[in-house]
Amino acid sequence: MYKVWIDVNELRDSFFGWSKMPEPTGLLMVTPKYFDVVDVKNPYMLENVGNVEADLAELQWNHLQAAFMELKEAEVIHHIETLEGEDDLEDMVFCANPVFEWLLEDHQPVVLLSNMRHERRQGEVEAFKQYFAVQGIKTRQLPEEIKVEGNGDLIPHPGIRAVWMGYGFRTDLQAAEWVANTIEAHVIPLKLISHDFYHLDTCFCVIDAENVAICTEAFDEESIRKIMAVFTHVHEVPLKEAKEHFALNSLIMRSPSGQKYGILPTGNETLKEILTDLDTTVIEVDTSEYIKSGGSVYCMKAFTYRK
Ligand code: ARG
Repeated sequence: MYKVWIDVNELRDSFFGWSKMPEPTGLLMVTPKYFDVVDVKNPYMLENVGNVEADLAELQWNHLQAAFMELKEAEVIHHIETLEGEDDLEDMVFCANPVFEWLLEDHQPVVLLSNMRHERRQGEVEAFKQYFAVQGIKTRQLPEEIKVEGNGDLIPHPGIRAVWMGYGFRTDLQAAEWVANTIEAHVIPLKLISHDFYHLDTCFCVIDAENVAICTEAFDEESIRKIMAVFTHVHEVPLKEAKEHFALNSLIMRSPSGQKYGILPTGNETLKEILTDLDTTVIEVDTSEYIKSGGSVYCMKAFTYRK
């Protein structure tokens, strides 16, 4: 019954009947001790090899952790777990990518382990595999030739057993069927067409079940149609803001009472206005050192679903 939704009309007719899914209860972070830019995996890294200021990166990570703590104080989440980064795994701080946690229909957690596009990042997956084994949490992995990069390309639709899946750069379209069956969720693929938006979380920011902010340049026309079929309000963020300040890599979470909190990279005035109009509490954090590597707030956490 869970499937991959390719046809826009079928999607529109079916979406509003899909079953409910709880929201994440916690966040996981990885410390930035070994964070660096050592090679070029995306356009943002091009000019930045060897350019990371480690002290500033650590300070910015601490501020991000403090922002996540605010979510905990507001009872939006209940847990924050922190894992130590590992030597030679310079991108491990972007822990949204190697894993994707979800709840099965019986409410047991399952972690989808990624098959990373870049060999250098596969070690992160191994580190997480061990971590979840120790926790006694079930993990699943696709056949290794099918690439999928976790929550970087799999973005949950709030409150529903459905994920939006970006494909074209890091994640393969062939992963969709497998993801749907493994996590028991509907999968709506979106085709990414610009190298600057190589992960779905760089160009698609879900605000709540009815509102999403996107950068239209990142998607093909059919994908835009799918987004418009499901969300009542599709807010456009200018290319410059999405590219230079990583607007759409913001993390928006909702409390059980429906209050929205948004953690935004600094410099995103359009998105800030959109969110303020939607009564969202906005927290800004400077992530300039991480943007040098092509990542920001949303990729520096993994969702968890502990009781
Ligand atoms: N340097 C990392 C890479 O290219 C950055 C990943 C950022 N993550 C994200 N979801 N955008 O793989």
